[in-house]
Amino acid sequence: MARVHLFEFNDQSWLPDAWRRYITEYLQFMLEHGPFDELPTLIARTWDREDDVGVVDLCSGSGGPWPAYLEGPLEQFENVDVLLTDLHPNPDTFRRIEERTEGRASGCDDPVDATDVPARLEGPRTIINGLHQFEPEQARAILADAVDGGERIGVFEIMDRRPITLLPLVLIPLFVLLLTPLVRPLRPGRFLWTYLLPVTPLLIFWDGLVSALRVYSPDELRELVAELDDYDWDIGTVSAGKGPQRITYLIGKPDQ
Ligand SMILES: C[S@@+](CC[C@H](N)C(=O)[O-])C[C@H]1O[C@@H](n2cnc3c(N)ncnc32)[C@H](O)[C@@H]1O
Repeated sequence: MARVHLFEFNDQSWLPDAWRRYITEYLQFMLEHGPFDELPTLIARTWDREDDVGVVDLCSGSGGPWPAYLEGPLEQFENVDVLLTDLHPNPDTFRRIEERTEGRASGCDDPVDATDVPARLEGPRTIINGLHQFEPEQARAILADAVDGGERIGVFEIMDRRPITLLPLVLIPLFVLLLTPLVRPLRPGRFLWTYLLPVTPLLIFWDGLVSALRVYSPDELRELVAELDDYDWDIGTVSAGKGPQRITYLIGKPDQ
């Protein structure tokens, strides 16, 4: 199926911050508990094991998998810490993550646009479930910006456009209704907008479906980097672990 770039609520500047949090905190919960066993191994390929690195995570939302991975599968990378950034930063979530990870992940409270990362933010860049949000021109600009800065970049998507991935998405509203009591932090507004007025399940369903339809295939990722020379681009898909999910990845490093 061809890539389709439909309207996503999370992209809208008018979306109230509270609702943006309901979406990204649910996504964070799913990343933490979903069947994505291979994701941490792939993410770790963005840096060199022996280096001391400060990873700059772009489009971080509510932290994605980082809090869980830094105290779990990536715990052994003691030399790695992570700066979480977003165009719509979520300071109270960032403070909770700093506490939970004992400072190994910290949040930048100033907006950081992934298409124009300030030069002061040095280090390998990661984008987890974020590149699909951008039209090809912007996505290319994000990758070109990393190349211009001589930084490594790792892009990871947990969804794709295969029917086997798309069909189960109709169950998202049901999952949101079932899992909301487990999503942290507990926010009264989340309960109100999930059970009394079920807006959140519909927002997450729509954004989930549209996100999957927007994910770049490996061939499309290759097209995005076709003119970005002097970089080694590793692009592909791997089984996420259990189940039919696949992770699409792009890892770019300056040629040695
Ligand atoms: C799908 S969500 C969260 C992804 C998060 N990495 C995760 O795995 O849970 C995408 C995030 O990208 C942010 N975003 C949208 N446009 C952006 C831009 N131009 N620069 C940086 N962040 C952006 C949104 O605010 C949102 O928090």
